[in-house]
Amino acid sequence: MSAPLIVVNCKTYAQASGIAAEALAVEMQAIDTNARLVLAASALDIASVASAAPDLEVWAQHLDPVGYGSNTGRIHPKTAIERGATGTLSNHAERKVPIGQIDELLAALPPGFDLCACAADPKEAEALAHLAPPMIAVEPPELIGGDISVTTSDPTVVSSSVEVVRKVDSGIDVLCGAGVKTGEDVAAALDLGAAGVLLASGVTKADDPKAVLSDLVSKI
Ligand code: G3P
Repeated sequence: MSAPLIVVNCKTYAQASGIAAEALAVEMQAIDTNARLVLAASALDIASVASAAPDLEVWAQHLDPVGYGSNTGRIHPKTAIERGATGTLSNHAERKVPIGQIDELLAALPPGFDLCACAADPKEAEALAHLAPPMIAVEPPELIGGDISVTTSDPTVVSSSVEVVRKVDSGIDVLCGAGVKTGEDVAAALDLGAAGVLLASGVTKADDPKAVLSDLVSKI
């Protein structure tokens, strides 16, 4: 079994942007754990975060399926990779894209580059599974940023997503997110069959992010 994955999404939280993102990356890199830790940074911060914490995996929060050329404002995958990104989120609840764009992006990415496609529910997770992304994260939008973990308030959304995705393609790792804040939430996610978690505010709004990170990996 591969190492449980914990992806911290910086979004545009002040505590995880610019210099603060670099500090968070350094703290994450220093965590002694068997879990796989990833920081999904703002595109603006990928290079500085990757340079501040060279041993930490840094992902983009979104990439556009574009090449070099006339693509104003788009996030160009090849440049993100050159800047240090080793993976990306796609179709996050706060950055939805048409499903065809995820397919195009998958076709444009080099082998080994991780893409975690986000789904609101098992139905969307199943549809995304047909694209065969390396990972799918299920996050009920109404629970995002809340205080109760999806693993407590809606555990069946996690187990059902795992089940339907496995039926389509057993090689896809399913993560869950929304309200995840503690090591117990991570353990519950793993018990429900998830390969890991995707979270943001539990870390980015914490008074002591280092303590939260240590707690998140404490049951692994
Ligand atoms: O991308 C992670 C996310 O949407 C969940 O956010 O703040 O509920 O951990 P949060």
